[in-house]
Amino acid sequence: MRDNFNTSFGVLVAMAGSAIGLGNLWRFPYLMGTNGGAAFIIIYLVLVFLLCLPIMMSEFVVGRRAQTNAVRAFKVLSPKGRWGIIGILGVLASVALISFYCVVGGWTIDYLVHSVTFSLPDRGSSEGFFAAAVSSPGRTLLYTYIFLALTALVLLAGIKDGIERYTKIMMPLLFLTIIIIAVRSVTLPGSGAGLDFLFNPDFSKVTANTFLDALGQAFFSLSIGCATILTYGSYVKKNEKIVKMSSLTAISDTFFAILAGLAIMPAVFAFGISPSEGPGLLFVVLPDIFDQIAGGGIVAVLFFFVLFIAAITSSISLLEVFVTFLIEECRMKRRSAVLASSGVCLVLCTLCALSGGVLSDVRILGRTFFDLFDMVSANFLMPMCGLLVVVFVGWKMKREAFVDELSNGGTLKNRALYNTIFYIVRYIAPIVIAVIMVFGWL
Ligand code: PHE
Repeated sequence: MRDNFNTSFGVLVAMAGSAIGLGNLWRFPYLMGTNGGAAFIIIYLVLVFLLCLPIMMSEFVVGRRAQTNAVRAFKVLSPKGRWGIIGILGVLASVALISFYCVVGGWTIDYLVHSVTFSLPDRGSSEGFFAAAVSSPGRTLLYTYIFLALTALVLLAGIKDGIERYTKIMMPLLFLTIIIIAVRSVTLPGSGAGLDFLFNPDFSKVTANTFLDALGQAFFSLSIGCATILTYGSYVKKNEKIVKMSSLTAISDTFFAILAGLAIMPAVFAFGISPSEGPGLLFVVLPDIFDQIAGGGIVAVLFFFVLFIAAITSSISLLEVFVTFLIEECRMKRRSAVLASSGVCLVLCTLCALSGGVLSDVRILGRTFFDLFDMVSANFLMPMCGLLVVVFVGWKMKREAFVDELSNGGTLKNRALYNTIFYIVRYIAPIVIAVIMVFGWL
């Protein structure tokens, strides 16, 4: 018997766990910083709910209908075509993503360990500290491997006893902790400028690029385009409601991103720092700030704990794509599949981890391994996989089959909504994804 998620809450926390990740904490705040604050949020919301949510539901439908791994799912639903290629792109995308995701996950463990032992850098030395964390091979490899090993450990226990059991504990903790940090940040003297920035839209900063940034972020943040939703969907029982689950996932993901903004921006403004610091915001600017506020030591522990949990619940979903594929296509036992997939990822993670130091001069297409995996997944594999999924669902699968799956075999009555979702998937989604891809390449 194929493993399954046991409860609706289990499905929801697993999906939200996948969606909420480094993207919310790391990318969202600085994208907002460069794109007009609340103006960016508004555009982002529209794109998430009108466009990306239907794409997420399409992946979900394919997985749940076929009840099998990403590659076979397309073959099951369309035995004659060559649609299995979509699944292959999805598996590749998830492997490429996890290769650099584990490295950043490793940094979060590194910082968590240092914050628990009160040995984070003092004000002014954060930059050097981060540079050392990224470039010393022993240190970066150690933490990257620990992160990958923890991910694998959860997966060894399977869906119900592994993913569901652990994300059920981790996700409530995650929300609770980010709320505590947000409250601390908002109550700092001088935080008002940050709130103003978050909630007063500045449309003068909005350019064509803002839309591309928002759409890329929505894709990444909702975990679409790399078969994770498809794979999780394949473990979801037939009586769960796809529209509701997907919507709740998108709502919690967006809510968390805004909470992350509230946790970070008021503090950043209170110290007169520019919100568009970029990736260094989390690992350089924030430790500096923690060093200067009352109770900063504890906030630091909580913050890096949040980062770690957010990251690991996402990496779990990424690695599971490959694991499910190996179990079903190569007839492996779960244990061997987890070991084999982690082995492959270990090699790729090593290349990415060493990109910050020893291998920083090794360039492919002018990029380090870390940047290469990032670029290939974000600009090519994910949008391509997303595009083919909507083309498959919109044009190959019959509308009846799609509506049948969304309505749980006709028991849920909301035909108008299901048809609207179908037409977005069929007509609007492919065009928009194609446009982003082309612009992304240009
Ligand atoms: N959604 C995750 C984040 O925001 C990243 C991710 C992408 C996870 C794709 C799984 C699949 O960090």
